[in-house]
Amino acid sequence: MDIHTTIPADAKVKARVEALLSGMSLEAKIGQLVQLGGADFIPGPKPEDIIRRGGAGSVLWLNDTKRFNELQKIAVEESPSKIPLLFALDVIHGYRTIFPVPLAMAASWDPSTVERAQAIAAREARAAGLHWTFAPMLDIARDARWGRIVEGAGEDPCLGAAMAAAQVRGFQGDYLGAPDHVVACAKHFAGYGASDGGRDYDPVYLPEGQLRNVYFPPFRAAVEAGVGTFMSAYMDLNDVPASGNRWLLRDVLRGEWGFQGFVVSDAFAVGNLVIQGFARDGRDAAFRALSAGLDMDMASGTYLEHLAGLVEDGTLDMALIDDAVRAVLAIKVRMGLFEQPYTDESLLEQVVALPEHRSAARIAAQRSMVLLRNEGRLLPLAKDLKHVAVIGPVADSKPATEGSWMVFGHVPAAVTVLEGIRAKLPGATVEYAPGPEIRRDIPSWMENLDIMNSEPRKAPQTPAEAETAFQTAVETARRADVIIMVLGENASMSGEAASRASLDLPGRQEELLKAVAALCKPVVLVLLNGRPLSINWAAENIPAILEAWQPGTEGGHAVADILFGDANPGGKLPVAFPRKGSHAPLYYARNLTHSPESSPIYNPRYWDGLPTPLYPFGFGLSYTTFAITDLAVSAAQVRVGDTVSVTASVTNTGAVAGDEVVQLYIHQRAGSDSRPMRELKGFERVTLQPGETKTVTFRLGPSELGYWSTNLGHWVQDAAAFDLWVGADSLAELHAELVVE
Ligand code: GLC
Repeated sequence: MDIHTTIPADAKVKARVEALLSGMSLEAKIGQLVQLGGADFIPGPKPEDIIRRGGAGSVLWLNDTKRFNELQKIAVEESPSKIPLLFALDVIHGYRTIFPVPLAMAASWDPSTVERAQAIAAREARAAGLHWTFAPMLDIARDARWGRIVEGAGEDPCLGAAMAAAQVRGFQGDYLGAPDHVVACAKHFAGYGASDGGRDYDPVYLPEGQLRNVYFPPFRAAVEAGVGTFMSAYMDLNDVPASGNRWLLRDVLRGEWGFQGFVVSDAFAVGNLVIQGFARDGRDAAFRALSAGLDMDMASGTYLEHLAGLVEDGTLDMALIDDAVRAVLAIKVRMGLFEQPYTDESLLEQVVALPEHRSAARIAAQRSMVLLRNEGRLLPLAKDLKHVAVIGPVADSKPATEGSWMVFGHVPAAVTVLEGIRAKLPGATVEYAPGPEIRRDIPSWMENLDIMNSEPRKAPQTPAEAETAFQTAVETARRADVIIMVLGENASMSGEAASRASLDLPGRQEELLKAVAALCKPVVLVLLNGRPLSINWAAENIPAILEAWQPGTEGGHAVADILFGDANPGGKLPVAFPRKGSHAPLYYARNLTHSPESSPIYNPRYWDGLPTPLYPFGFGLSYTTFAITDLAVSAAQVRVGDTVSVTASVTNTGAVAGDEVVQLYIHQRAGSDSRPMRELKGFERVTLQPGETKTVTFRLGPSELGYWSTNLGHWVQDAAAFDLWVGADSLAELHAELVVE
């Protein structure tokens, strides 16, 4: 029976695993817990030598089908146990066809779009010979200064959990081992997005209630969706590094959630336990990480060096090794690696050429974009424009259009916004001027890795060159009828090791925007960015603003589709846009306090400006208008444990078809704990023709109404009165009540 054609029965998998395990030496078992860095920048012995003696079970940071087959041949034919390798890489939002960055895909509020995107990413990655991706990244982020906010689904656990499940389904398919799919990896467990000050890698301090009610739900959803692996986070969580944290990896993940897969560390994180001041030395680090439930050591070599000695001197129980090895072998059996260890080297180019891949990327990009402003209905623009200026440092940047986390060796090939507009207006004059360049003040260590950057590094622009570029851009704008400003961030300004204190537009972009606006011509602002930006001046002075994020391979076409009305924007913000970076952490689901905004004695929290968001969570406009009415609850009063349904009607009251995302928020008025003033508990994106009405239905039961109580130290559903709101963003006003007795 071909393991690929039927879902492998657990018993059959277990039997094969036990048979393999029984024939393995201690060294062979330890090898399965070692993931080697396959890139040339990794010091130490060559991978071939370690693999030949069975010292590795997986290789990452390699992206070369021919090389995969070479290393696999050594493992399968020459190593003592002949166990195939798992090849892994960060395929975060596309392999060759690049999709919008995950924060953008979350802005679609459309799990089916996200699932389709990751299924295509998986198909291309598998065709390249990869078996395992280090995605989805599930870290809730409420501090936009944190660079890795770009990789997640924003600030909310309900939206985050929906995106987690959709990505796992996309990557893995209907079952682990499904053809053209890969093993997914829920990362970074857990709490990484709450690093102090948004400073990447800095410590995290989260009370158990926040962890369980806010940061855990996306990870739990990934387990329920059948995710094959987890990755432990780098940082200290309440002073215990996540990679040595038994409570996280054994008590919660396996004990409470029943996770059956295996846990890999983040890069070098096992060895880092010594640097973090947690482990005395490598031997201590290996012992404590494995004991805590960390199965596989990514690239640090600590397990390879110390596990055998720990077992031989009786410090480490062999049973712990066996359990970790079982989990790794089960994934390899399910993935069919024993039957098909090699990859056809001609497959990738056939797969990446499939037309539906780019069309899916264009649709995903369209659906992820958020219309933030459209005063005087400046958008959509007419297609008979004669003279357009496209201005800005990222307007024609392929890397900035694709965003962070490209796979090694990837050459950015995105359609830029400039190219998309020129394609849309073949008969018009479309002039371009970048204006002054933008650069990080402090380069990222990643920018210096050739393998991560195909872009030739340029010398910084001199002030004189920047000034010339500035004036040229203004003059270019002066000649045009309409100006499209494309501003935001370079790909290196968000992602890993890319935190920043300010959320302002980098460089002289706002100055240029003001100079162009002073020409008193129609100006449209398109944002290409990996995080919320404090575009306070633009929000008051630029009539049309489109949040395009980092939209991927088809990004330029998708921006042009929206700007010229071939697509109607329907995205919503998955995270609030603060007015200042220093307002972070900023999130809508916060407690009332004794001085809530609704109170007559409300005390503005800062005397130098209101911390209300520039744009709230869930916000997004459309080219049409909608009405959300007839909110109804199936019962006004229920008992604890019951479930009610909440319905509302949504009507397209405008003249063009469009999508609305109907959102349900609740507030528990009193309880064992103070509860947030609003919490998203349901959403649905609906497409409506002009005049069309649909009914959306949500369910509220114990899992939506209950929570982990800090006061009681366990899950609880209180008997309490609830406010319910349904609307088009987190400020929804259509209200109903529910009493739970
Ligand atoms: C990185 C990241 C993690 C990634 C891993 C392997 O440092 O923290 O997200 O999957 O190393 O590249």
